[in-house]
Amino acid sequence: MYDITVIHGDGIGKEVMEAALHVLGALDIEFNYKKAHAGNECFKSKGTTLPDETIKEAKKADATLFGAVTTVPGQKSAIITLRKALDLYVNIRPVKSYSGVNSLFNDIDFVILRENTEGLYSGIEEETEEGATALRVITRRASERICKFAFEYAKITGRKKVTAVHKANVLKKTDGLFRDTFYRVARNYSNIDTDDLYVDATAMFFITNPYMFDVIVTTNLFGDILSDEGAGLVGGLGLIPSANIGENYGLFEPVHGSAPNIAGKGIANPSAMILSSVMMLNYLKEYDAAQMVENALTEVLNEGKIVTNDLGGNSSTMEMANEVIKKMEL
Ligand code: NAI
Ligand code: MG
Repeated sequence: MYDITVIHGDGIGKEVMEAALHVLGALDIEFNYKKAHAGNECFKSKGTTLPDETIKEAKKADATLFGAVTTVPGQKSAIITLRKALDLYVNIRPVKSYSGVNSLFNDIDFVILRENTEGLYSGIEEETEEGATALRVITRRASERICKFAFEYAKITGRKKVTAVHKANVLKKTDGLFRDTFYRVARNYSNIDTDDLYVDATAMFFITNPYMFDVIVTTNLFGDILSDEGAGLVGGLGLIPSANIGENYGLFEPVHGSAPNIAGKGIANPSAMILSSVMMLNYLKEYDAAQMVENALTEVLNEGKIVTNDLGGNSSTMEMANEVIKKMEL
């Protein structure tokens, strides 16, 4: 039995979470769910986007599932605060194409590892007479542990190359440190190929030659932007899951947000949230269950019949989740 903290959040976060819990409910594994609050609705009722209680619950659980939240300008970002509070220093974002899904290229399969605790998202901003500033913090410790994680990840998953993405030509000190740390860590992993690229060139190569990527390791903002571009490459934000991992905790969430433009209609693609649950199952070492759910979802996507609107179908979020359960070899 696993204790799982469940944060539905706002908008389609709530809808895709229900779909993923439905799929997990079909497995022969016992989950003890504890609901916790975060986001804009939470702010309206409790006066904060991230109550201390939610952080406490996430720390108590074996893992946390997070839907998506609406972040209103001026409010504290619940997810960024939570990542820091739990010291979830790596955000794993796989970019993978499915044969039934309209994608710019076939057979895309690479992973973005985004540093998750500092960079331009350190939350140190100041308004001055002239304007405003934000501090981009790059520490040796955080750079080293994310780069180490990237090589260990490549080793365990059998990937061949790790690419550091930065902008060290302009951000000489901060990204210079990140790039140097990357190559220093790389010395311990002689079996894995390494290279580094500027972030602007990387953005172009995603579109012109995505096959050159295997594992990308990068700082917080660059990872955020590149992962949405990666989503665009393989059929949209409805497909990309993520795992936020630290020394002690794991939190699993789709890359997308609360999508107010489609919220409340029951038409959000549940794949990203279901695949985030698959990443959670792997984290819990429930490898067979993870494989079964992933295979079932892959089959549904490849068939392309019972799929949501963003994938060219007309099925609802729950119909698609039910189709995944139907394909599971229970
Ligand atoms: P978004 O990811 O919510 O939506 C971007 C576009 O992708 C929209 O057209 C949306 O309809 C589509 N989309 C996203 N997920 C989809 C799904 N599962 N199925 C089908 N279509 C999907 O990003 P946006 O519009 O920039 O932000 C909306 C709100 O979400 C904002 O308040 C933002 O701050 C918040 N946000 C929260 C995140 C989180 O909770 N981790 C991450 C990103 C944004
Ligand atoms: Mg984002």
